Amino acid sequence: MPPENTLSYAELEFDEAGTPQSSRHGDVYFSRGQGAAECRYVFLQHNKLPQRWHKLQPGQHFVIAETGFGTGLNFYITATDFLAEAPQATHLHFVSFEKYPLQPSDLQAAIAHWPEFNDISAATLQHYPELFPGVHRLHIHPRITLDLVFGDVLDTLPDWAKAHASQVDAWYLDGFAPSKNPSMWQPSLYREVYTSLKANGTLATFTATGHVRRGLIQAGICMKKAPGFGHKRDMLYGVKRTFGMPRSRTPNSIAIVGSGIAAACMASELQDYPGSLTLLWSQKAPADGASGNPQAAVYPLLQAQWTRLSEFYSHAFEYARDFYQRKTPQHTHWTGVELYTRSSADAERQQKMLKRQLYPESFLHSSEKGLVMPKAGWLDPVAVVHDLFQQVIAYRTERGLSTRLVTNEPITQITRALYQWQLTTAKQQFKVDHLVLCTGHHTLAYPELEDLPIQPVRGQVTLVKKMEETTLSHVICQKGYALPPQGKVLCTGATFERGSVQTHIDEADDETNLLQLNEMLGSHYTKEHVIGHRASVRATTPDHLPVQGPLVRPKPPGQGVIRLNGVSVLLGLGSRGFTSAPWLAHLNACAILGRPQPAGATLLQATSADRFAKRAVVRSQGKGKD
Ligand SMILES: Cc1cc2nc3c(=O)[nH]c(=O)nc-3n(C[C@H](O)[C@H](O)[C@H](O)COP(=O)(O)OP(=O)(O)OC[C@H]3O[C@@H](n4cnc5c(N)ncnc54)[C@H](O)[C@@H]3O)c2cc1C
Ligand SMILES: C[S@@+](CC[C@H](N)C(=O)[O-])C[C@H]1O[C@@H](n2cnc3c(N)ncnc32)[C@H](O)[C@@H]1O
Repeated sequence: MPPENTLSYAELEFDEAGTPQSSRHGDVYFSRGQGAAECRYVFLQHNKLPQRWHKLQPGQHFVIAETGFGTGLNFYITATDFLAEAPQATHLHFVSFEKYPLQPSDLQAAIAHWPEFNDISAATLQHYPELFPGVHRLHIHPRITLDLVFGDVLDTLPDWAKAHASQVDAWYLDGFAPSKNPSMWQPSLYREVYTSLKANGTLATFTATGHVRRGLIQAGICMKKAPGFGHKRDMLYGVKRTFGMPRSRTPNSIAIVGSGIAAACMASELQDYPGSLTLLWSQKAPADGASGNPQAAVYPLLQAQWTRLSEFYSHAFEYARDFYQRKTPQHTHWTGVELYTRSSADAERQQKMLKRQLYPESFLHSSEKGLVMPKAGWLDPVAVVHDLFQQVIAYRTERGLSTRLVTNEPITQITRALYQWQLTTAKQQFKVDHLVLCTGHHTLAYPELEDLPIQPVRGQVTLVKKMEETTLSHVICQKGYALPPQGKVLCTGATFERGSVQTHIDEADDETNLLQLNEMLGSHYTKEHVIGHRASVRATTPDHLPVQGPLVRPKPPGQGVIRLNGVSVLLGLGSRGFTSAPWLAHLNACAILGRPQPAGATLLQATSADRFAKRAVVRSQGKGKD
């Protein structure tokens, strides 16, 4: 179970000059009037940043991590200077760990001090995340990514560093002075800083406190003193002197199999991929499977406790909202989603959720009939999938990036061909370095894929001719759901038939859908109102989390699994594929391209293909003991 959502905003006081100070720690966020100069001196100069940025090659990225985002000043300066100094086509990835985030209004007040960084600070405020724990990824600029990791750095960094060992180029050890914030400056922090640093990665901090210096040296970092900024006597900087491992090679060619939302998001996240990209559709047009319904609701799965599922869906939803806003705003409608109370047990669960304040008020609050998620909504699945593919093809073609679309050719066979993968269709064969399988509930004839416990669940939606008196401006969910009518057509659903892969229309399913609709709306729709229906198949997993990342092959019993090089999956999206696909595709793309992922090791493991094999090993060992 992840830690409970116990986050709270920072408590700030502003002095007469408007400089923010933390009431909790009794320390300032930056030196009065000299914040920018101090940041450049301590962090940029002593990590030798401009010099190192000048040496970056096109396509490379530079990773900076920081303790304490605070007002974001260090980030605004670093991002602004990076854009001015680093060569074109290089990318800055800035990760900041923050226990007490500023409220948006305080952030705005602090930002007012530095109009010169307005481009970056305004984008940060615009994308500023909701107050829940974990890694929030913000696309600030085409060349700047910011990860805000909310929670105590002593809790969040070990998990993050496990997933990002040897990936950080430079650390900023900020945070209030060790005398004002002793609990943060701990040996465990220095160990994780060391783990996450690259060979020859560097670190700088404004403090020269003895135990900090000794702790960092003990963690393995070579530390030096330098004159401090302004009236401060000394500061520290250091380097991790080790030999680096060679960076794993980015594949020269990638193929994405499938044409649903998973494949479309995957293609979109690989839009800038410099190698050759092949898109393989089994039909002439995309969205032929579960992703082809007339409307789809986009909202996270909520639970009465802060579970792995809550964590996964909250982050996936936040990412999806931003993704669709950037890519397909014309097909996405943030009308809100209302969850009607289903039973007294459900009412109790909903009350618990509110009482525990698992989600901020702006994310979830009570309504007359249950709960409302005002930021959620619905989208047009076919238009979204279609546009995502078209955008990728147009974008890559314009830039001369090799792109091939193969339609109407289902893959019949996958085989290993030395260091590549060979895909066979009825007409031809392809060889690629990396394969991404987004094939929904379909089992391809490939043993490791067949081993995944993906269960099909058939479902049918029903379209009715809207009655005059039905007014529905937002999505409602109870047992089923009803979506805002489009013209005279109201879409409602959906049935749930485990184990079935049939896509024929079943009249009994329409009746079930009408019953649920009438219960929700207090209406009297009958089968005479039915004007359409669509049946398709969800792909579900036993633990309700999807599967992303490398495919694995079990070793002999009791010996774990082997990750298969060059083949990853995006499967098991269940009933909420339109919420989870963008984030899953982003995780997958980052892994393929060797970029930091917006998650720690625990969440990556919870969605990995090897979790099932690992659990089977644990179960078999348990049995062995009986
Ligand atoms: C009735 C119903 C209602 C739903 N409502 C919602 C909702 O409101 N909101 C929501 O978020 N989700 C909803 N879902 C779930 C959502 O539709 C799925 O999670 C999502 O569409 C899964 O996307 P996908 O790309 O993984 O799979 P799919 O869309 O099924 O795509 C799989 C693709 O794999 C391709 N493929 C398979 N085999 C091969 C092969 N051999 N060669 C080449 N290609 C192959 C297929 O052609 C297809 O294009 C609903 C599902 C159902 C059934
Ligand atoms: C001096 S401010 C950082 C200033 C910031 N870098 C800037 O540019 O504005 C220190 C920050 O560290 C955060 N902090 C303190 N202890 C922390 C901890 N244990 N984990 C994460 N953040 C912490 C504080 O909430 C505060 O925002």
